[in-house]
Amino acid sequence: MANPPVLIEKIESHLRENLTPYRCEHVLSVRDQAVSLARQHGINEDQAELAALLHDCLKELSNNELLHYADEHGLEIDEHERKNLSLLHGKVAPYFARCEFGVEDEVVFDAMRKHTTGAVEMGPVDTLLFVADFCEPLRPYAEALTVRTLAERDLEIAALEVVQCKIRKSLSKHRAIHPDSFHAYNAMVEKRTGGRRG
Ligand SMILES: [Fe+2]
Ligand SMILES: [Fe+2]
Repeated sequence: MANPPVLIEKIESHLRENLTPYRCEHVLSVRDQAVSLARQHGINEDQAELAALLHDCLKELSNNELLHYADEHGLEIDEHERKNLSLLHGKVAPYFARCEFGVEDEVVFDAMRKHTTGAVEMGPVDTLLFVADFCEPLRPYAEALTVRTLAERDLEIAALEVVQCKIRKSLSKHRAIHPDSFHAYNAMVEKRTGGRRG
């Protein structure tokens, strides 16, 4: 069953009115990528579409607005998020999605929450959004094509590549690595090797 067209139109017009054209194009491209990968891998396309369309809906709030939103909903903010408040955009977006669009799907919300850092527990929709966000065709970096190619075959290998790219980028810029990314990486490697040491 497809998502109600009225809901999709409402979300799309919100995106057009509240995000810069650049970000809006990114989100629509993540949607296309996510839905196409969902179809290929037998994952729920409706959840993929909603998670993709909503994942960055609060990405352009100011730090103060994000903080205010998080406080208002009693969201716990860790020390990394406190230093880099934009990390909160995925965690606060589900509250907005529920109240503004009446979305009530925890699978969609989890994917939105985890899309920036990854997490130890990643279900199919979480993995799908994590990968699609990184590799949609408008992404300007070379790794996007590598990940897109991997994702055609195996979403979990693609997700491991994404988390590695994110960690490498943080290392090269002397930035802290969010513990969720670090633990996500370890969990993915553990899953692939079954705990064998290389
Ligand atoms: Fe994001
Ligand atoms: Fe994004």
